[in-house]
Amino acid sequence: MTHFLDIHKTDPADLRTILDNARAMKSARAGRPKGTPDDNQPLAGHIVALIFEKPSTRTRVSFEVGVRQLGGETLGLTGSEMQLGHGETIADTARVLSRYVDMIMIRTFEELALLELAEHATVPVINGLTNRSHPCQIMADVMTFEEHRGSIAGKKVVWTGDGNNVCASFLHAAGQFGFDMVITGPEQLDPEPEFVDLARSKGVSVDLIRDPVEAVRGSDLVVADTWVSMHDGEATKQRRHNQLQPYQVNEELMRHANPDALFMHCLPAHRGDEATNAVMDGPHSVIFDEAENRLHAQKAVMRWCLGV
Ligand code: CP
Ligand code: NVA
Repeated sequence: MTHFLDIHKTDPADLRTILDNARAMKSARAGRPKGTPDDNQPLAGHIVALIFEKPSTRTRVSFEVGVRQLGGETLGLTGSEMQLGHGETIADTARVLSRYVDMIMIRTFEELALLELAEHATVPVINGLTNRSHPCQIMADVMTFEEHRGSIAGKKVVWTGDGNNVCASFLHAAGQFGFDMVITGPEQLDPEPEFVDLARSKGVSVDLIRDPVEAVRGSDLVVADTWVSMHDGEATKQRRHNQLQPYQVNEELMRHANPDALFMHCLPAHRGDEATNAVMDGPHSVIFDEAENRLHAQKAVMRWCLGV
């Protein structure tokens, strides 16, 4: 079964095939209305279940649209409305859904839920974000970087703020695509050492630098994300603001990056917190290209999972 669970669990050659295919599909539909089906309809006759246990705008809409453009149909589900939210096991849910649908995308809390679903499903499972990673986002981000600046191999990517799930997928991607990372934030919010070690074991450098100005020097890409993730809860909000304020990405900080450095944010953003409007809407920013590329990258992920 070909699942897409995490970037470090997917072969680098397959990751490259996925991105090449995403780019080809994107250019093949350039200028066409969004609702136009792709010329190729590899998902015709296929149904994809989209399970959301957390809110979503981009993931939901890009999967809904992507499946339709490829000729398939979607089934939108929420954990709380399913028996899953009322005591049915994930293993049984996986076995049942596999009798009805051809693929499952899930956004959930605990990574264990995703892994259990994948273990017991007999159809491909795609990770649409857990507390621990967000691989579809980083596939779109690598695609976006390469559209603007060519190969990401050997580049310097700086993650600012909370070493969260999106940061984890960047670290997974660093090892697979061969780029270096600098993480800048307070020690208490460092990424899991396991992910840092994994990237380093693949020969790329990962530096943890507390001073944001020093961190962004010579960078090709500066990345921000929300200071409080969906699984963190409101209680952490004030503390995070105090801890992370020095790591805000603003014009002054961007001045220390390379002149042609890009700025990314997976969105949704809290404008004025982790990044200012001047940066988000400024010349370095490619945030809406990232959002668009979720669509193209995920279409390629789905085709790779199904082998179609
Ligand atoms: N970036 C991202 O995954 O956005 P949503 O939470 O809106 O899906
Ligand atoms: N780190 C954020 C990403 C949202 C797409 C979260 O998990 O809430």
